[in-house]
Amino acid sequence: MDNDLQQVYQSVKFACRGDSTGHDWWHILRVVKLALFISERENANPFTVELAALLHDVDDWKLNRNTEGCPVALRILHDSGYSDDEARRVALIIGQVSFKGAGVDTTPSTIEAKVVQDADRLDAIGAIGVARAFAYGGARHRPMYIPDLKPQQHHSFDEYQHAHGSTINHFYEKLLLLKDRLNTQTARQIAVERHQFMELFLTQFFKEWSVLD
Ligand code: ADP
Ligand code: NI
Repeated sequence: MDNDLQQVYQSVKFACRGDSTGHDWWHILRVVKLALFISERENANPFTVELAALLHDVDDWKLNRNTEGCPVALRILHDSGYSDDEARRVALIIGQVSFKGAGVDTTPSTIEAKVVQDADRLDAIGAIGVARAFAYGGARHRPMYIPDLKPQQHHSFDEYQHAHGSTINHFYEKLLLLKDRLNTQTARQIAVERHQFMELFLTQFFKEWSVLD
């Protein structure tokens, strides 16, 4: 059987159905588009980048149990006619994309993984990043903001995974750090405006919060 990229698209779309945590099909499509845009400028392999961007969240620890070894991504690639070699290459990238806490180094080893990680991180900042953070927080029953709850510096993936902070704290624990942790020049340029917007959002948020003080 030939590789069937369209089948991968359909399978991922099906896997994302009903998501309200900010990891819906539109997040995947935005990441695919951003990743292909960055890929062209950074001379990465566009075929590998497209597959990895498409499949980067189907095994995410925030959404699934048993994510070790990317079983869902491997099954989708296998069912869509990709060789074991190609599937392993894509799985290696997917395993390197996710943020694991401010104190944990997650620099990817290949240009393709760097591109997909940058695209995913760009979709976590800016206006869409703000919207996704509150969508995620709401879906996980997290408080929007609690004044005396201070942001944490997570030094291990385990600490980060088990944190129960507010969504506003998530900006200080992750989102505001992303612009300095991007891998490519192309992504760093796109990040400037998005980062400024988040700072503006937070300034306005605290201004409104303190109106009665
Ligand atoms: P990553 O794999 O790097 O976490 P994702 O594509 O899974 O990237 O996206 C993470 C999204 O989930 C971001 O938009 C982020 O704001 C949101 N998110 C993750 N953890 C939290 C949290 N504790 N509070 C609010 N949003 C969160
Ligand atoms: Ni993602």
